[in-house]
Amino acid sequence: MAEKRQSIHGQWSSRWAFIMAATGSAVGLGNIWRFPYITGEYGGGAFVLMYLACVLLVGIPIMMAEVMLGRRGRQSPINTMSSLSKEEGLNPAWRYLGWMGVVAGFLILSFYSVVAGWTLEYIFHASSGSFLTATDGEIGETFDSLLRDPGQLLAMHTLFMALTVVVVAMGVRSGLERAVKFLMPALFILLLIMVGYAMSTDGFQEGLYYLFYPDWSKLSAEGFLAALGQAFFSLSLGMGAIMVYGSYLPDDASIGHTTVSIALADTVVAIMAGLAIFPLVFAYGLEAGSGPGLIFVTLPIAFGQMPYGQVFGTGFFVLLLFAAWTSSISLLEPAVAWLVENRGIARPKAAAIAGLIAWTLGIGSVLSFNLWQDYRLFDKTYFDIMDYVTSNILLPLGGLLIAVFTAWLMSRKAIVAELGLGEGLVFQVWLFVVRFVAPVGVVVIFLHAIGII
Ligand code: TRP
Repeated sequence: MAEKRQSIHGQWSSRWAFIMAATGSAVGLGNIWRFPYITGEYGGGAFVLMYLACVLLVGIPIMMAEVMLGRRGRQSPINTMSSLSKEEGLNPAWRYLGWMGVVAGFLILSFYSVVAGWTLEYIFHASSGSFLTATDGEIGETFDSLLRDPGQLLAMHTLFMALTVVVVAMGVRSGLERAVKFLMPALFILLLIMVGYAMSTDGFQEGLYYLFYPDWSKLSAEGFLAALGQAFFSLSLGMGAIMVYGSYLPDDASIGHTTVSIALADTVVAIMAGLAIFPLVFAYGLEAGSGPGLIFVTLPIAFGQMPYGQVFGTGFFVLLLFAAWTSSISLLEPAVAWLVENRGIARPKAAAIAGLIAWTLGIGSVLSFNLWQDYRLFDKTYFDIMDYVTSNILLPLGGLLIAVFTAWLMSRKAIVAELGLGEGLVFQVWLFVVRFVAPVGVVVIFLHAIGII
């Protein structure tokens, strides 16, 4: 076996720090903004069940594989894939998997930052108390008028991207570890409060029913693909983010346990967001399938009515901003690690370059809500296309290739050594799932979505 590698970018201080950082990456707008609105678009319970199945049967096993590859390679995903393919005597073209991840990361960050910008804007609205006096219609109008204003959207997008670049520039460890530690628990508590409030409204039963009662007739082939895409998006899988975080993982940490805790935390937060939002949707007579604005119109109404709404509202959007922040840095990190490794660029400059690329791509998303809203492809705007192509195509494809590389091509000896699970039942089950269940699942869902099966 090759010498144990060391990462030139440093290491997490502990297994716990890795769990925090990776959970920080996973929990973000994907859970609180994207999960509810996509669930609403695809009709509720059946989508949610399908999503949970994808997390369990595809997401968790692939996450283990991705962390494992990262720790073995100890470099940016591009260089990790090229070292590992060399070590295993495989085709060096596997490094393009790393490249695909870098591209996907730029594309995701470009629109992610725009949505995080909405969150920034809402911190100001919530803290000014304007939700307290606004009617439901006025709250909807607040969101629509933000979308109509490219200057404001661009300003917030720019601010958020700058925040992301700053943390990545400081280096993963000093920048990140500290922030995540208390922000994640705080977000969790605030979500609990929101669920509590939702329970007190008369939409709670209907919301619960909507979220958990599976009406399979509502789930289209597109819905299956969307559930798979949401699983990848929410768990930060398929583009190297978790791989690069794995490359900073200490050697003695167990990959199996850490992965399961991360996926569990991510899923619990998504379900809680659903429990907080759908009752409000029904209590206020809003439209579950209304799209990306869903949380930005439902939650402010609730903040306007609940006791201490101004405090909770401000707190909520601040914490959502932090959740988005700890996610966005993981989207940039694979590209930055590569620039540092291969181009010898200092980390701060590398972060600035990468951030600039994502920022530029994000301008299209800013404009897609106003000046460019009529430029569409298959009825999708630039923003919709970025989101769709990354979540529903690039990430599952990346995941599929990670599964194939790990379970079909890597030597068993290397996997066993790196994974540290031994070769007992748990290992056997994992290997079976990564070999057969996950890849077949992804392929079947792809083919189903394009109408072949
Ligand atoms: N998982 C994050 C969220 O739910 C977003 C994210 C961060 C991501 N890194 C990623 C998505 C890598 C896909 C791939 O908000």
